[in-house]
Amino acid sequence: MKEYKALINGEFINNGEWLEVLDPFKNEVAGKVTALKAEDIEHAFKSARAAQESWEKTDLVKRIELLHNFRNVLLKNKDEIAAVMTSEISKSLKDSLTEVVRTVELIDFTLEEAKRMEPLSMTGEGMGAKNKIGIFSRVAKGVILAISPFNYPFNLALAKIVPALVMGNTVVFKPATAGSLVGALIGELSIQANFPKGIFNVVTGRGREIGDIITTNKEIDMISFTGSVSIGNNIKEKGSSKDLVLELGGKDPALVLDDLDLHNYAKQIVDGAFGYSGQRCTAIKRVITTNKIADKLVPLLIDNINKLTVGSPYENKDITPVIDQKSADFIKGLVDDAKTKKAKILVGNKFEKNLIWPTLIDNVTLDMKVAWEEPFGPILPIIRIEDINEMIKISNDSNFGLQASVFCKDISLAIQVSKKIKTGTVNINGKSQRGPDCFPFLGIKDSGQGVQGVKESLISMTRYHGIVINY
Ligand code: NAP
Ligand code: G3H
Repeated sequence: MKEYKALINGEFINNGEWLEVLDPFKNEVAGKVTALKAEDIEHAFKSARAAQESWEKTDLVKRIELLHNFRNVLLKNKDEIAAVMTSEISKSLKDSLTEVVRTVELIDFTLEEAKRMEPLSMTGEGMGAKNKIGIFSRVAKGVILAISPFNYPFNLALAKIVPALVMGNTVVFKPATAGSLVGALIGELSIQANFPKGIFNVVTGRGREIGDIITTNKEIDMISFTGSVSIGNNIKEKGSSKDLVLELGGKDPALVLDDLDLHNYAKQIVDGAFGYSGQRCTAIKRVITTNKIADKLVPLLIDNINKLTVGSPYENKDITPVIDQKSADFIKGLVDDAKTKKAKILVGNKFEKNLIWPTLIDNVTLDMKVAWEEPFGPILPIIRIEDINEMIKISNDSNFGLQASVFCKDISLAIQVSKKIKTGTVNINGKSQRGPDCFPFLGIKDSGQGVQGVKESLISMTRYHGIVINY
């Protein structure tokens, strides 16, 4: 069991306070991180500010070279990173490793794209000002606060850190407490990659204790946050930066419009709903279909669910414990509410502490909480509705607007329906998902504001600086 110090101004800091991070499967301490105090956080932001100007002045090719070196260090340590990830968030070893490798690929893409962030140049001729030439370069915003959630502690951290740094910003990074061992390890590996002092700082501690202190710091030029709607809204209200990218929760629907490829649809839906035990923002969180289709789809869903293995993330089981008991209790509450209101539980509904068997709930009606709330666990409601317009309405009546799936062989109908669905993205004949990470990724309504991606993150972490030449 390792103790990880925070990283501030290139130094590992511990002020004597340790915060235990629990292994959700073994229910024992997986490691400890530093519980920082307000003065340490102030020090982190001051260090990021002090380092920013010279980091931005460093040639782009040198910044890319350093980050490429960092990428190599991360890849070299992929097995350790994956093992630490499994120990603190119960993601299977296999999936933890996939997350690390996927992220290295995202870093490669981002560093390549950074080379192509050419300035915009134009003349004023079209507006009657032909003696003016404008050159608008993208420059760093300054100090970026990156806050990541527990469920992708490596990917969703580096998807912020790398674009911020390559464009000349400095970073203060706050990982989720479950996920902070990986976060602190990223800090250690940045020192192995010879990061200059202060450009990258890792601050750890419980969000409920230090969150407001972090997000209201006056040095912040931009906050990039991924997590729940409630914390995202809290940052919107209290955070010091007007410049905010928020990637929040979802209640992604899968609309099944025909029965022409049900074997494939069922596989996609089960993968989409139960991957990492449903703890993906983009998980399929409700199926909406007709009685006729549901009667054929349900047995196929059950077949696929019955193939899922349940248990230890160390043995690469498909369904592993959810992050903590509080989450498990919340999920059980949703199932119990549906049961009381006469939903049919077809499989699952077995709970052993925070380990939840994959659960399929049929005949879900709109008065049930599970029709609207994000469970973040391995349960899947089926809503039976006859009319396509009503299906679209139910999809859109949600406060969330992250992603949706439309399963339909008639591509023109699929596109027509997709266009009416109010989410950031609609996937036709595939599960909802953020990957491949080169795609723009966004949520609307309560699911977020701003866009992440490769180019989109580079843009969001920079601003224009214009020079106008009059001749
Ligand atoms: P969370 O509870 O909102 O926590 C997210 C981050 O915020 C953590 O680092 C947390 O630290 C920190 N935090 C807590 N209180 C804070 C405060 N007052 N001020 C600032 N930061 C604070 O979310 P989670 O449980 O880790 O992740 C699950 C949620 O994230 C789900 O709703 C999921 O849909 C969403 N998510 C969205 C996306 C997307 O891209 N749209 C991707 C992944 C996950 P502590 O852990 O120390 O509390
Ligand atoms: O939880 C949110 C992640 O960004 C989901 O990524 O859909 O590619 O698994 P994914």
